[in-house]
Amino acid sequence: MRFLITAGPTREPLDPVRYLTNRSSGKMGYALAEAAQAAGHEVVLISGPVHLPAPDGVAMVRVEAAREMFEAVQSRIASAEVAIFSAAVADYRPVVRAEQKIKKDAATLILELERTEDILGSARLAFGFKGYLVGFAAETEKLIEHAQDKLARKGCDLVIANDVSQPGIGFDSAENAVTLCLPGGRTQALPQQSKTALARELITFITRHVP
Ligand code: PMT
Repeated sequence: MRFLITAGPTREPLDPVRYLTNRSSGKMGYALAEAAQAAGHEVVLISGPVHLPAPDGVAMVRVEAAREMFEAVQSRIASAEVAIFSAAVADYRPVVRAEQKIKKDAATLILELERTEDILGSARLAFGFKGYLVGFAAETEKLIEHAQDKLARKGCDLVIANDVSQPGIGFDSAENAVTLCLPGGRTQALPQQSKTALARELITFITRHVP
């Protein structure tokens, strides 16, 4: 099967030397790409800026900002049968990117932010994706409730929910623990383990569920 996977954070520039970002390391998405490739699938990995080597045998597309990730997904998703969105895409970006480095003249500085493109939310209607659609939900409260809401609103077949308030799992850690949220309110918990082992389990689960 052909997989498209997003991974890592995005960087939303404020000026030539500063940006808004988050703590995503890319480990979860790269582990998924490696597991899918090892299971014999074709993989396109669209990655924000991370410090990880490109997995062997995977077609890499490197991007920085949410807009670039949106365009990279838009132009490639039609040829995928499975799309997994594990990237931690910034939800907001500065309205203005200053041409020059912002000077520290004022005691306070107010930044105006605007919403970025909702890449997962564009998959079904805007991109016309008909394949198996997998989103992630990174939550600090009401994990299952928020994940089920994303599943329905974004037309996903599966949402992988992780509680990012728990130490040792989620952002920038070697391990993760997730709950799979499926249509009809069904859930399945996968216990804490290395992202490598978890990714293998997730790819097996997904390939079994693709119609
Ligand atoms: O990279 P690691 O350090 O290994 O950490 C892994 C992880 C915690 C980043 C990963 O497991 C994870 O949870 N990824 C999703 C992070 C996230 O941004 O979640 P969210 O609940 O804000 O977004 C929901 C879904 O919409 C996600 O599939 C996300 O990729 C997608 N999204 C979000 C915003 C946006 N503008 N476009 C999107 O496509």
